[in-house]
Amino acid sequence: MNPAQTPIAIGADHAGVALKDSLRAALEAAGHKVRDFGTHGDGSVDYPDFAHQVAKAVDSGEATFGVLVCGTGIGMSIAANRHAGIRAVVVHNTTEARLTRAHNNANLACFGARTMGPEAVLDSLSVFLSTPYEGGRHERRVSKINPGQEA
Ligand code: RB5
Repeated sequence: MNPAQTPIAIGADHAGVALKDSLRAALEAAGHKVRDFGTHGDGSVDYPDFAHQVAKAVDSGEATFGVLVCGTGIGMSIAANRHAGIRAVVVHNTTEARLTRAHNNANLACFGARTMGPEAVLDSLSVFLSTPYEGGRHERRVSKINPGQEA
C-alpha cells in the first residue's frame, strides 16, 4: 500500500464493524492516515448513516479514498453512489479491485463481511489503493457516468 498524508475514510455498520476495525489497524500499520467514521460497537445501526459520512469525506476531498463494510457491501455502495462525485464498487477480489481503479477510477471500495474472508478483503483493498487510474480512453466514459453528461 502507498501511505498518503490525506486520510482514507472508513466506516461500517454492525455487520461490518469487526472487519472495519481490522482494516483500520492494517492501514495504519502500513502508514496510512485513517479517518474512522464508525460504527464503534456491535449495536445495531443503519448502514446509510455511515455510507453518507464516508462518501461526503471523499466527495469533498477531505479523504483520498473511502472504504465501507456492511454484511454484503451492497447497501453501502447503493447509498454512497447517490453522491455525485462517488464511484463506489462492491469489490470481491483483486482483479475487480485492479480493474475498477484502472478503468472506472473508483474512489470508494465496499466489502461484505458476510461474503468474504478478511485476508481476501485486505488483499483486494491493497490492490485497490495501489492501482492508478489509467485515464486515456476511460476518461470520456467515466465523465459520462453521472446523468446529464451522456452524449
Ligand atoms: C444488516 O443486517 C445488513 O442488512 C447490512 O449490513 C448490509 O448487508 C446491507 O446491505
